[in-house]
Amino acid sequence: MNITTQIKQPIVYEMELFEKKFYESMTSKVALLNRITYYIVNRKGKQMRPMFVFLMAKMVSKGEVNERTYRGACVIELIHTATLVHDDVVDDSNRRRGFFSINALWKNKIAVLVGDYLLSKGLLLSIDHGDFDLLKIISVAVREMSEGELLQIEKARRLDITEAVYYEIIRKKTATLIAACCALGARSVAEDEIQVENMRKFGELIGMAFQIKDDLFDYSEEAIGKPTGIDIKEQKMTLPLIHVLNNCTPKEKSWLINSIKNHNKDKKRVKEVIAFVKDNHGLTYAENKMVEFQQEALQLLNDYPESDYKAALILMVNYVIERKK
Ligand code: IPE
Ligand code: IPE
Ligand code: MG
Ligand code: MG
Repeated sequence: MNITTQIKQPIVYEMELFEKKFYESMTSKVALLNRITYYIVNRKGKQMRPMFVFLMAKMVSKGEVNERTYRGACVIELIHTATLVHDDVVDDSNRRRGFFSINALWKNKIAVLVGDYLLSKGLLLSIDHGDFDLLKIISVAVREMSEGELLQIEKARRLDITEAVYYEIIRKKTATLIAACCALGARSVAEDEIQVENMRKFGELIGMAFQIKDDLFDYSEEAIGKPTGIDIKEQKMTLPLIHVLNNCTPKEKSWLINSIKNHNKDKKRVKEVIAFVKDNHGLTYAENKMVEFQQEALQLLNDYPESDYKAALILMVNYVIERKK
């Protein structure tokens, strides 16, 4: 059995029902929107966020989920989808999940509007059912994600970006939503604030590892369903490069900076930069940091009694850093 089937085993029923509810949550009377949302649901992603929601709820409640859990999972996946649609506009990327991105097919104008539509549908799903405690968790994540994307634009192109700023960017743009999945999963079934906060922290740490992994993909040539090698082209500094920049000779540093500033569209030069980062242990350094975050996350599960849900969650924590896409 492959690892994702194994992870999903204790939540097979929930994930199936989730998929139906997720699709229903997107429908509109506007035909163009329906065509696009139909396109989106037929190219689903890994659905790791709803998996986190259900596994967390079941671990905390020893097996119970409720309508709030389902709505929470739908809201999060709607918001995640909205941010990906917007992200591909921002990053000028034409592929997503192995297919054309929304902006590649329908252009930026429509992609921006579709992203807004999905975001509003997500927020309304919580509002219409009075899930205000969950809505609060979600809204914080939405704000932080926007801040994270803007912080990245402001800082990640600066050639003196520090590791601390990089962590702040990825905490906001990615980790915060995974933190919300875990907090919300727990909150949907339990009122204990300390427990909810612990699970939020768990999600945040695993979210950090998740984005470092995503940034490592950009240095690979594997088929992961979206473009690789675009971060340097977009002058986006990520951990492997930041580490190497801060640990090379002044001469190497000016070559790197000149390459990124003035030759970032030159494919051969970008390849040389990637090779330099690899040769100077940039990837190994980032991999080690990723494992540190992951291990710190695992610690937070220690106090929970063993269960199928906890076991699946631990597998999920490993999948985050071992996944192939
Ligand atoms: C991609 O997230 C965006 C990041 C935060 C790196 P996922 O890798 O979870 O995307 P899908 O939903 O599986 O396509
Ligand atoms: C993902 O960011 C989108 C958000 C977290 C908002 P990236 O631009 O780094 O991720 P991919 O590689 O396009 O999925
Ligand atoms: Mg981006
Ligand atoms: Mg992107």
